[in-house]
Amino acid sequence: MKMSLDQLKREAAAEALTFVQSGMRLGLGTGSTAKIFVDLLAERMRAEGMALICVPTSEATRLQAQSLGIPLTTLDETPELDLVIDGADEIDPSLNLIKGGGAAHLREKIVEMATKRFIVIADETKWVANLGKFPLPLECAIFGLEATKRQLAKAIEAAGCAGELVLRKGKDGQVLRTDGGNVILDAKLELIPNPARLAELLDGVTGLVEHGLFIGMAERAILATSSGIRAITR
Ligand code: A5P
Repeated sequence: MKMSLDQLKREAAAEALTFVQSGMRLGLGTGSTAKIFVDLLAERMRAEGMALICVPTSEATRLQAQSLGIPLTTLDETPELDLVIDGADEIDPSLNLIKGGGAAHLREKIVEMATKRFIVIADETKWVANLGKFPLPLECAIFGLEATKRQLAKAIEAAGCAGELVLRKGKDGQVLRTDGGNVILDAKLELIPNPARLAELLDGVTGLVEHGLFIGMAERAILATSSGIRAITR
């Protein structure tokens, strides 16, 4: 039977739940897959009386978790986490990721750098041989945006990539602001031959707050496919 994308996301989220143990300091991702995970987590916490303390990766996730009664903390109070479960926009066979489709990659990366284990959950459509088809989110300071854009274009060219940089707008047609008050340029690269090199070059651009390449951070991907769960580890 062919499963819907929502069902697949639910399968991946349910599998990720088996990695959560009482007493953990847990990071909660952002996006539609992570949202399902947070719902399932709250159900399990209620059913089993599980004690957890969680750090959300966005205002949206914070509001969702609060409404479900999940105990929350911050990285200031709890700077080291045991596990983070989050979605992704693309996952390659080295478990390098593109994230930020939901404009949350800055907080996601901060939280995912602060954990012992980061597990990415997704439906099978996120699995790619090479990253780049999904536009790469580049969160930038508004100050000097045009100058930053030129530096970004140089870094992108030096990494052997090319493509337009498009200022992201929200559903209301206005320029989208992130939780941190910044803007996002989406780089339409189509193919990133060497993600690690591009990440390194982008890291050197002043004015870029954070890019959506997550290199060598996820230790495991839980992919839900129509023929079952696939786990890929690094
Ligand atoms: C949020 O900024 C992203 O990094 C999400 O993790 C990513 O967009 C995945 O979202 P979905 O689960 O909705 O596809």
